[in-house]
Amino acid sequence: MSAALALVTGGAGFIGSNLVRALLERGHRVRVLDNFSTGLRGNLLELADDVEVVEGDLRSYERVHTAVRGVEVVFHQGALGSVPRSVQDPLTSSAVNVEGTLNVLLAARDEGVRRVVAASSSSVYGDGGTFPRVESQAANPISPYAVAKLAAERFCVTFWRVYGLETVALRYFNVFGPRQDPGSQYAAVVPLFIRAIAAGEPVTIHGDGEQSRDFTYVSNVVDANLLAADADGAAGTVLNVAAGGSETVSTLAETIGRLLGKPVSREHTPPRPGDVLQSWADVTLARATIGYEPSVGFEQGLRLTIDHLERRAS
Ligand SMILES: NC(=O)c1ccc[n+]([C@@H]2O[C@H](COP(=O)([O-])OP(=O)(O)OC[C@H]3O[C@@H](n4cnc5c(N)ncnc54)[C@H](O)[C@@H]3O)[C@@H](O)[C@H]2O)c1
Repeated sequence: MSAALALVTGGAGFIGSNLVRALLERGHRVRVLDNFSTGLRGNLLELADDVEVVEGDLRSYERVHTAVRGVEVVFHQGALGSVPRSVQDPLTSSAVNVEGTLNVLLAARDEGVRRVVAASSSSVYGDGGTFPRVESQAANPISPYAVAKLAAERFCVTFWRVYGLETVALRYFNVFGPRQDPGSQYAAVVPLFIRAIAAGEPVTIHGDGEQSRDFTYVSNVVDANLLAADADGAAGTVLNVAAGGSETVSTLAETIGRLLGKPVSREHTPPRPGDVLQSWADVTLARATIGYEPSVGFEQGLRLTIDHLERRAS
């Protein structure tokens, strides 16, 4: 991608703000569309002079269209994440994640955007089937969030087929790293565990802790987005983006405890509806299609995340 204008929807969020930094480092001009519902203004604070911010809601075609004008590539990261949030409020989850994506695709089509790279989710695989997950497997979503991400992903593929708009949908697997918010009611497991263990508090484990995840450090996801924006022959594809390994939630807690040099105590609660039991990706297709290679593994990623938090605290 040349030093053209890129739009990052959800650019104030965890993954979006990491992507914004990477794009700026590569000399791109960057615009962000965000309504700051789960994203934090602080994530863009030190970049305020370098990033144009369009404050607005993905559910408004007019705001999305304004944000897309003059853009070469859209990195669509904006969404309402979290399976439990979607179980609480499936209507809003669907409106933001499905209609919001449709607005992005329509505006991109109407404005002649070269390519849309959109964030999908490993949750579309649901439960059952074989591991590691390959893209040719049938999706079997078991939460409203997963259904919405699957619908959004299919709209991406359809816009390529019907309108010739180049799209790439990336199925992220449990992403973690700097700027992931531990503060919300729906926070992800890695920042919650780091915060609890560092403070000497028990971690809350839903179920027995043997559920597994392909924990993926955020720089791998940023790399995948940058590659997906430019790779020849990638239009219309749906690709797993992960570290390509599988760790249990219990191992996650133990590893964080070891890296922090702190003991880990656990509180168990019942499993949550909508949560899958296992998750583990095969990234062969992403390797072949966009040249993706996960360069930071599970433990190294946790160390980098903890280092970042400690630098911020000091
Ligand atoms: N974090 C993960 O493990 C993970 C895994 C799979 C997929 N994803 C996907 O990656 C993307 C980024 O997730 P994240 O973890 O950075 O979440 P995040 O909540 O930190 O970021 C989402 C951003 O979207 C913005 N947003 C939400 N609703 C909006 C709306 N209606 N209008 C405009 N902006 C809105 C939020 O304010 C926030 O800045 C999402 O599409 C998510 O579904 C994340």
